[in-house]
Amino acid sequence: MRDLVSDMASCLSVGGVRITRKGKALLDVPSLNLDGPGSTLILGPNGAGKSLLLRCLHGLIVPDRGQVMQDGVPLNAERKARQGMVFQQPVLLRRSVAANLDFVLKRQGLPRSERKTRIQNLLTEGGLDGKARQSARSLSGGEAQRLAILRALALNPETLFLDEPTSALDPSATQMIERMVQRASSRGVRIVMVTHDIGQARRLAADIVMMQGGRVVEHGAAQQVLDAPESDAARRYLAGGLVT
Ligand SMILES: Nc1ncnc2c1ncn2[C@@H]1O[C@H](COP(=O)(O)OP(=O)(O)O)[C@@H](O)[C@H]1O
Ligand SMILES: [Mg+2]
Repeated sequence: MRDLVSDMASCLSVGGVRITRKGKALLDVPSLNLDGPGSTLILGPNGAGKSLLLRCLHGLIVPDRGQVMQDGVPLNAERKARQGMVFQQPVLLRRSVAANLDFVLKRQGLPRSERKTRIQNLLTEGGLDGKARQSARSLSGGEAQRLAILRALALNPETLFLDEPTSALDPSATQMIERMVQRASSRGVRIVMVTHDIGQARRLAADIVMMQGGRVVEHGAAQQVLDAPESDAARRYLAGGLVT
């Protein structure tokens, strides 16, 4: 019963969503239900509409038609505030690592003593102990991305969106990010993550959304989609063929 309740609590759905520019449909998703449990990975070639879909789910873009619902209710400001977003290129404040975290905790109205403890715990979580006073802009790519994830986690999000967070990182930096994502997921944070790394999808995903040309061409359990895809588009993508 508890599982059922927590699954229901994280249901994100898209109904009749369409984004058109200059007469061309960039995103056309009649129906998509992300109802967990576990992480959803969005896969597909460049220009497939993965980032657009993520931005719609987070309410950063309002589609021309259709809507995004969370637990059956149109996405509203209160639910948006409980979503975190991590972009491919993290945008960090030109301040210290700790100040970047303090900035979001302050906005939550946490008292100074509590913020200090939270910051320390977050730094440990991200493997950034000892970097508190370092300028955030001087971090390595992997460290900067970990800080961006910590900043999103500092808000205790119910859903965390990540847009290709490891695409510019080497394997060991990627592994650290994947571990953070897995830990957040196991604490109950709903993960929706874009990747072009099929291995990463295999390691992290419970379910996979495969996109091409602004459409969802397949959505199902990760193993099913990866090992026995039903659509030609997914088959070609997984085989490394050109998908146009
Ligand atoms: N603001 C915009 N105006 C016009 N076209 C856009 C805009 N944002 C994205 N696009 C186009 O929409 C398509 C999907 O983009 P995107 O979601 O970024 O793809 P990806 O799957 O690589 O993340 C691309 O063809 C892109 O050029
Ligand atoms: Mg993208």
